[in-house]
Amino acid sequence: MNKVSIIAGKSSEDVGKKLSRKIKANLVKSQIRVFADGESKITLSGKISKKRSIVIQSIYPPVDTNLIQALSLVAKAKETSSEVIAVIPYMGYARQDREFLPGEIVTMKVLGKLFKGAGASKIIAVDIHSMIGFKHFPIKTKNISAIPELVEHFKKMSLKNPLVVSPDQGGKERAQKFAKELGSEYIALEKKRDRKTGKVQIKTKNISEVANRDLILVDDMISTGGSIVKATQFLKKQKCKKVYVACTHALLMNDAEKRIKKAGVTKIISTNTIPGKTSIVDISNIIAKAI
Ligand code: R5P
Repeated sequence: MNKVSIIAGKSSEDVGKKLSRKIKANLVKSQIRVFADGESKITLSGKISKKRSIVIQSIYPPVDTNLIQALSLVAKAKETSSEVIAVIPYMGYARQDREFLPGEIVTMKVLGKLFKGAGASKIIAVDIHSMIGFKHFPIKTKNISAIPELVEHFKKMSLKNPLVVSPDQGGKERAQKFAKELGSEYIALEKKRDRKTGKVQIKTKNISEVANRDLILVDDMISTGGSIVKATQFLKKQKCKKVYVACTHALLMNDAEKRIKKAGVTKIISTNTIPGKTSIVDISNIIAKAI
C-alpha cells in the first residue's frame, strides 16, 4: 500500500485531489452530512496509510464546522497512521493571535491544543495572517507563501509598470516580496481599524506615486472587503489608473465582491485555499513542495 495517504476534507476537496495526483499518494475521500442541528457526520472511503497521513481542510465559513471536521479527520487518521500532518490552507482564527482588548481570548492558543490533542504532529498553512498565531502551537508549524504563484499570474497579464500597494503597514513585507518577484516598486498605506466596531479608515495623506499607474493591491485575505474598498477609494482619488487585487484568501463575505467592484477594482485574483469565483491560482504545487 502507498506510504502516504491524503485525506481530503470537504472544504479542500479539489486541492486534495490535485495534491494526491502530484505526490502520487493514495486519496481518501470524505463524505459529509451536516445534520439540521449543525453536527457533522463524516464517513471516509479509502485506505489510510499506517505510516503517514496528510489531512487537508481549510477553515473558512462555516468556520467552526470546518474546524471540527479538520480535527475529526486528524483524530481518525491518527488511529491508523503513526504520523499525521494537518494542512490547513486557510487558517481560520489566525487573526485572533493576541489579546488586543483586555479579556479577549487568544483562540489560536486553543487551536494549538486542539490540533495536538487530535493527533497532529505538524500543521502547515498558506499565508497565515501572522506568524504570531503559530507561536501558540505546541506542535511543529510551517507557513508557505502563495505569493510566487500569484506573481506568476500577474506576470502573464503584462501590466505596464504597475505599482504594488499594501492597504496597511502590517502587509508591507508581503507587498515588498510581491514587488520584488514581479520586478516592480511598492508602497504601503496607513490603515486604522476600530477594534470595537471593525470600521476601517485610511490615514495616508496625498501620495504622488500612484497617479497614472496601474496598481496591484496585495493582501493576505479579504473578509468584509472594508480594507480593499477604503484603499481603492483613496487610491482612485489620487488619480491612479486600474486597480487589481491579489490576495491569497478571498472570503468575500456577504456583498464584499459587489462593493469592491463598485469602489473601482477591475479584477480580484485569489487562490484556491478558498474555492470561489476569484480563486484562479492553484496552491497544490506549493503544498506538494512543502510536504
Ligand atoms: C488585516 O490586517 C488583514 O491583512 C486584512 O487586510 C483584513 O483582515 C481584511 O479584512 P476586511 O476585508 O474585513 O477588511
